[in-house]
Amino acid sequence: MRWILGIETSCDETSVAVLEGRVVRSSVVASQAGLHARWGGVVPEAAARQHVERLQPVLQQALDEAEISLKAVDAIAVTNRPGLVGALVVGLACAKGLAFALRKPLVGVHHLEGHLYSAFLTTPDEPIPFPHLALIVSGGHTELVLAHDHARYTLVGETLDDAAGEAFDKVARLLELGYPGGPAIDRLAKQGDPKAFRFPRAWLDGTPNFSFSGLKTAVLREVESQRAQGALGAQTVADLCASFQQAVVEVLVRKTVQTAQTLGVKTVTVVGGVAANSVVQSQMQSACQQAELALYIPPPQYCTDNAAMIALAGYFRLLGGERADYDLDAYASERLGQALAQPIGVARKRSSAPKTN
Ligand code: KG4
Ligand code: ZN
Repeated sequence: MRWILGIETSCDETSVAVLEGRVVRSSVVASQAGLHARWGGVVPEAAARQHVERLQPVLQQALDEAEISLKAVDAIAVTNRPGLVGALVVGLACAKGLAFALRKPLVGVHHLEGHLYSAFLTTPDEPIPFPHLALIVSGGHTELVLAHDHARYTLVGETLDDAAGEAFDKVARLLELGYPGGPAIDRLAKQGDPKAFRFPRAWLDGTPNFSFSGLKTAVLREVESQRAQGALGAQTVADLCASFQQAVVEVLVRKTVQTAQTLGVKTVTVVGGVAANSVVQSQMQSACQQAELALYIPPPQYCTDNAAMIALAGYFRLLGGERADYDLDAYASERLGQALAQPIGVARKRSSAPKTN
């Protein structure tokens, strides 16, 4: 199994990658951000149509950059869940057509499993350390997943409402900063004061779950009030961005480190689009260093959606003997891994009983 072709079309990135074993030989990503910017978010029908238009040229470019012909491909890995079904179907149909024509094995990959493997795309010569705790922070998900081994996961915590990336996108929309909002907020926050506004942090009794909707509402109120006072100038916008970002990052960092310590795990990864955030990276790095945890964060091009991570996840599934049939389907939602049997980290309620000594 030498050459693995990966295909990713679950949302608004059309991507194809070629891996030689664990080594990325090409990774081509055609972003639809420009298309969806006018609506301030992804429009599923438009996304699916643009995947149809772009997938073949992206595939050709990935083969050209890897300097292989289609005939050399040994196996095909494709994202088939979770995601926009109309968008997933485009990649899936292409992958099935290729697998059938080339008579090569096909494997369906869970998009979040792909994100988990993205942390190891740049370390092909190192064995993947298990167990590790992954913080998945993307536009659609915020989860803490304990990876015991390849294809063996426990979902330890998740957001109860908005995903972290979704919060970035919604706040950016309030401030009219365009789509996707994360990179714009990250950039503007560099000129702002993270202490200018004191926004709420949802600690949720120390559980490994997250909540960002209260924070989003608090930012909305502040934006409205600043706007009503005619005070929403460039510096205020930068201060709002920095203060909002700091509130998100503090929660992500503290909950990740605490959960790793509670579980006794020594390795942490941060993956998904929000892992590209400069403050997530710097604050996670110093917190992990202090807690003596090894930290893996992919470079920015592998934080956001890409087919290289899908190909790597597929590679390990193929090595484990997994093969999909031609009836492989697309699914809008599916959790990654089993839920935790017992919730962890719930702060012990202080006893109201009088002290006896
Ligand atoms: O993983 P991803 O590409 O797609 C999903 O699977 O959702 O993540 C996209 C999300 C968007 O919400 C985007 O605003 C956010 O990642 N994002 C960032 C940054 N770059 C992308 N958020 C904060 N700071 C960034 N630098
Ligand atoms: Zn993603």
